[in-house]
Formats: sequence, structure tokens, C-alpha cells
Amino acid sequence: MRPFFFTLVASISYGLLTAAEPLLSPYSLHEKRTSIPAGWSRSRRHEATSILPLRFALKQSNIEDIGSYLYDISHPNSPNYGNHWSAGEVASKFAPGDESVSAVRDWLVGSGIEAERIRVSPTKGWIQLNATVEEAEQLLRTEYHVYSHQTGQDHIACDAYHLPAHVQPHVDFVLPSVHFDAKLSRRSGVEGSAREVGQPGYGITPKTTGRVSTEVTELEQCDEYITPICLRTLYSLEYVPLATEKNSFAVVEYTPQAYLQSDLQLFAQNYSQDLIGKEPYMVSIDGGYAQTEYQGFDYNGESDLDLQYGMTLVTGKQQVTLYQAGDMVEGASFNNFLDAIDGSYCTFEGGDDYSQDSEYPDTEPGGYLGPQACGTVTPAYVISTSYGYDEADLTPFYAERQCAEYAKLGLMGITILYSSGDDGVAGNDDYCLNPNGTQTADGKIFNPSFPGTCPYVTSVGATQVNPNSTVFEPESACEQVIYSGGGFSNYFAMPEYQKEAVDYYLTTYPPQYPADIWNSTGMSRGFPDIAANGANYVVAIDGEFELVYGTSCSSPVSGAIFTMINDARLAVGKSPIGFINPTIYSSEFAGLFNDITTGTNPGCGTAGYNTAPGWDPVTGLGTPNFAKLVEKWLTLP
Ligand SMILES: *[C@@H]1O[C@H](CO)[C@@H](O)[C@H](O)[C@H]1NC(C)=O
Ligand SMILES: *[C@@H]1O[C@H](CO)[C@@H](O)[C@H](O)[C@H]1NC(C)=O
Ligand SMILES: *[C@@H]1O[C@H](CO)[C@@H](O)[C@H](O)[C@H]1NC(C)=O
Ligand SMILES: *[C@@H]1O[C@H](CO)[C@@H](O)[C@H](O)[C@H]1NC(C)=O
Ligand SMILES: *[C@@H]1O[C@H](CO)[C@@H](O)[C@H](O)[C@H]1NC(C)=O
Repeated sequence: MRPFFFTLVASISYGLLTAAEPLLSPYSLHEKRTSIPAGWSRSRRHEATSILPLRFALKQSNIEDIGSYLYDISHPNSPNYGNHWSAGEVASKFAPGDESVSAVRDWLVGSGIEAERIRVSPTKGWIQLNATVEEAEQLLRTEYHVYSHQTGQDHIACDAYHLPAHVQPHVDFVLPSVHFDAKLSRRSGVEGSAREVGQPGYGITPKTTGRVSTEVTELEQCDEYITPICLRTLYSLEYVPLATEKNSFAVVEYTPQAYLQSDLQLFAQNYSQDLIGKEPYMVSIDGGYAQTEYQGFDYNGESDLDLQYGMTLVTGKQQVTLYQAGDMVEGASFNNFLDAIDGSYCTFEGGDDYSQDSEYPDTEPGGYLGPQACGTVTPAYVISTSYGYDEADLTPFYAERQCAEYAKLGLMGITILYSSGDDGVAGNDDYCLNPNGTQTADGKIFNPSFPGTCPYVTSVGATQVNPNSTVFEPESACEQVIYSGGGFSNYFAMPEYQKEAVDYYLTTYPPQYPADIWNSTGMSRGFPDIAANGANYVVAIDGEFELVYGTSCSSPVSGAIFTMINDARLAVGKSPIGFINPTIYSSEFAGLFNDITTGTNPGCGTAGYNTAPGWDPVTGLGTPNFAKLVEKWLTLP
């Protein structure tokens, strides 16, 4: 749970320094930084009388067991399959214990801090105290300095800090301290932050080859033009939903990305008559709204695609929710969205990182002045997101905190889908890693995406109908305009559920690349988990039909299919399918996905990985066969 440049040392006594005060136990080093991140330099000692908003992130209870709790309710052979937890059960299972709160509070009071200055967050996730620098330096046996970045930004930090030995087991970390999460530069020389995820050109974005100039209505045209009938045929999705009142499906969009109602209606005229006059149910998060001020493929392509295909495939009977996150000024990150759908996440492990995530109210001109969304939005059963980062854009700590939240949503019975990326084994915009961890166009090391590498989401890659082939022949990995994101994480270990499938791939079809350009340990999370068509989508954008490519297509299409499986289960009184990975990798589900065995995912100057029979790091287990999957899923409790 710790960024790589920190070390946790538990037993260096600092008894001498503390001789002047009444202390319950000797101090020990808690966190220490081994180097200052590139671009930063120490400029001066911080003023003794300045106020520091000290935050003590308390240790979560039971967090190390989250994977096994999730397995217990989502593996088809488990007697507890489908027994999802309530949000309250999740919050209390992982909330720090009362003994952690009192250990920290008693120590602070014993050190001379007035009790009324100490605040405990409602979820007990952290303890907050406005301390002078002098007080903080005393409490933590440290010195605070002001560091300056070459861009002019300042950051308050220390090199190391200490806690009394009896307090240490209750504290994850203290902020501000050695952490430089502000460093997270996305690639050398360019500052990026997680909240830019909705900006045109940032992260995973669909591509277009331009306008469709011919009439498209026939199944015979699916090798050149994908329309809903192609997908229904490819994935055996003929289904009329029955439990629409109980069911829910949402797509997430990050402002300024926005859908146009006129485009939805244009699409409905040609391809989806029952959507005529319908619109998505929009839930605004942190001031999000479907802006119309900026238009063009880069602003409307993603949202138009997601809603036109997502809404069509679940039919006009099923309402689709649009979570529109972030205002026009600050935007939003995935953390801002997660805060909205889970109140316990807002403060989890010390809360969001505002060098990365947006902060509301937003006092910039034109900013959203309402309070930051925190647990105000009910999560839908299936949530599809076609945006993404490179894993290396984020620190391991940031990625792990967010990944644990996906596990919590899984415990609550929610299916989380993310596109796996559009640049094969390379990262967004074809950037690859260098040995020093930076990302550049000439990097050589494979660059996996996030959250696709989080073991608690379902990552969706892309396929294509081969040129001159029909929808009745097998698809290949997508090799038109985009390549399916896939590979192996550098942050997350291989989860139990995929061990057999990934081991089989690595031993039967071992990738022939040197170990220094991919994570060849055989112990890291492989992605994607599944795939769906991602080439040649006919999408109504800005008043005309355009041809669109990307795993951005694959995620909402898969989301619609899983939503229809939920419908069938809800209709007979069963639970939603929740976190699907332990189920879909299990032997009971073998053969229910269409295995993709041709094509690769090039990037970083290589041909990428090969597809192969069984799971592969290009198309995962393959594309869903709705008819087979729904039948099997109905046999589960
Ligand atoms: C610390 O000070 C800020 C700014 O005055 C205030 O908003 C915040 O509530 C204070 N926090 C605590 C724990 O007193
Ligand atoms: C949509 O329908 C109109 C009217 O029938 C037709 O002229 C147009 O070619 C169709 N567009 C596509 C992409 O098929
Ligand atoms: C990291 O390595 C790349 C390529 O070797 C180089 O161009 C870049 O300057 C290095 N950056 C830092 C911060 O060391
Ligand atoms: C598809 O068929 C057309 C017409 O027969 C031909 O010109 C083209 O080369 C074929 N493309 C592929 C990839 O086989
Ligand atoms: C490979 O992944 C594991 C986590 O699964 C990580 O511990 C290890 O550092 C990674 N190797 C490299 C070279 O990044």
C-alpha cells in the first residue's frame, strides 16, 4: 500500500529528543523519503507560526482481507454467492476501530493539544488538527520545508517523521509529510493530473475516420459498418427486458465531454425507433451537465457513442443513467465520481489528493459552488466507463486506494467495467515507459492502463469483424485504427481467479520479449478480462453519422449485455451479478465467451502480445455470448 520511494522502519528509538516531555512510549521512524521527486527542490524552512492542516490517516480494519471477502460472494462455487453487502456493512467492516481513534487522540491530548481542536471524521477514517508548524514539528519529531517545483508550484513536506511506538500501529500515514503526490507527471516534462480525464485528447479517447457516406442497414455490411443489428447478432442478444423497474445501468462521462440529445434522436431515427423521444436520466456530480458550448468529435464523440449504443442495446424500456461528472473549470477525476457514489470513500485513507482530484466548491470564475458530492448518488448495478489513465500516471498509493474502492463496490453487487485502452501494449497516445519510470513516445517498455489493471474491475478490450467476413465468422483482435489495450500490471499482483487462465497462457504461449520490457514475473495482474467489438461503429455525432473506433465502444456494449443478464436474474428474484471476474474465469463458464484466437496488440515498437486459445492479454476470455451466459447465470443462486 505504499509508494515505492518510501520505506517504513519500525524501530529506531528517538528517546533522547523527547526527554523534555511526558511521553507514553519512545518515538519511532514512521515514514521516510529516499529522494526528492524530479523537478522539485527544497527552498526554505517553513515558518514556525504557519498553520498546517495535519491529517492522520487511521489504519483501516480488515482491508488486507478485501479480496477474500469479495471472492466469497462472487465465486460461483461459494455458498455465499450473490450475498452482497449493504453500503453500511462495507463502511463498518473497513472503518478504523475505536481503539485507533482513541490511541491518536489520547496521544495528542497528552502532548498538550486541547481536545476541542481535534476533529474525527464521521467514518473514523482520519483525525484532523490545525497545528502550527512548531507544534507539528514537535508532535512528529520532524522539520517542515517549503519545496518549489520548476513550474513555480510550492509544496510543504518533510524528509521523515516519527510517531510514538504505541500510536504507530493505528496510523497509516500523516499528511502533509513525506508525500509528494503532486509529482505525478504523466510524461516527462508535462504535468498532468487525474482530473484531466475528460479533456479532449487526454487518456483513452475514441477515434474517427470521418463521415459515413452510404446508407447502412444490412447485416452484410458489418465488416465495414457496425450498427446495433451487427452487435445483436454477434453476441446473440435478442432479449426484451422484464425487470426494468428494479434494474439499473449507467455510463459515466467527464465534463467537458457531453452527449447531444439531437444526436441521440438522429441515431434513434435510423437504428433505434424505441428511443425516439427518450433521453438518458442525467445525474449531475460536482456540477456536471451536458454542455453544448463546445462541440465537435473531441467533445461529443465519446458520450454520443456510449449512450447511443448503451441505450439501444438495453432497449427503450430500460432507463439508462448518465453520471455527468465535474464542472467546466475543474472537471473531475475517477475519485470525484467514486466519492459521489460511496460516502465512505470521500475520507477513505485520508481522502482524495487535491493535487490530482478536483475540489468543490470550485471558486474559480464559472466554477460549481455547490458542495463536493459525497455519497449523494446511488450506484447503478452496472457502471461502464470509457475513460482511463496509464498506470504509471499515478502513484501506487493513489492507484491502490482507488482499486480498493472498486472491490468495495463489488461487495455491494456492482459490476464495474472499464475500457482497456486503445494503444495495444503502449499507454495512451502510444507513450511507452523508460527505465526511470517516465513515459515518452520513444520509450520501449510496455505501459499498462489503469483502472484496467486493478484486479477488482472488469477490463474490456476490443475486437473486429474481419474485412470481407460476416458476423457468423469468428472476430479477431481489433487491428483497425486502434489496438486492444492489454498486458500485465506493474502495480497489482495476479488475483486468484485468473491464475489458472493466465498461467496457461504464459506457459503454453510464452511471449518472446526480453524481461525488461514487460512484467514477465508471472505474478502480476493480466488484462483485459473480456472484449467486444471496437471497430467501425456508425455513431451520430454533431448531426451526421461518423465511423468510430475504440475500446470506448466495447465497454458500454458489454455493460448493456450484463445489464440484460441482471434483468433476467432480477425478474426471477435473484441478485444482480455484481463483480463478475471470479465467475467468468471459473470452469463452469468455460466456452460461454467467444474465444478470440487471431490478431495481436502492437505497441512500443513491437507486435505486442498474441491472441491464443483461452485467455490472452489482447482480448481476455473473448466476447460475450448473451444467450449462453444468461442461461448459465440463471442457474446460479
Ligand atoms: C482548520 O482550519 C480551516 C480554515 O480555517 C477550517 O476550515 C477547518 O475546519 C479547520 N480544521 C479543524 C480540524 O479545526
Ligand atoms: C439514415 O436514414 C436516412 C433516411 O432514411 C438515410 O438517408 C441515411 O442514409 C441513413 N444513414 C445511414 C448511415 O444509414
Ligand atoms: C528518463 O529517461 C529518459 C529516456 O532514457 C530521458 O529522456 C529522461 O530525460 C529521463 N528523465 C529523468 C527525469 O531522469
Ligand atoms: C475484400 O473484397 C474486396 C472485393 O472482393 C477485395 O478487393 C479486397 O481486397 C478484399 N479485402 C480483403 C482484406 O480480403
Ligand atoms: C511486476 O508486477 C509486480 C506486481 O504484480 C511488481 O511487484 C513488480 O515490481 C513488477 N515488475 C516490474 C519490473 O515493474
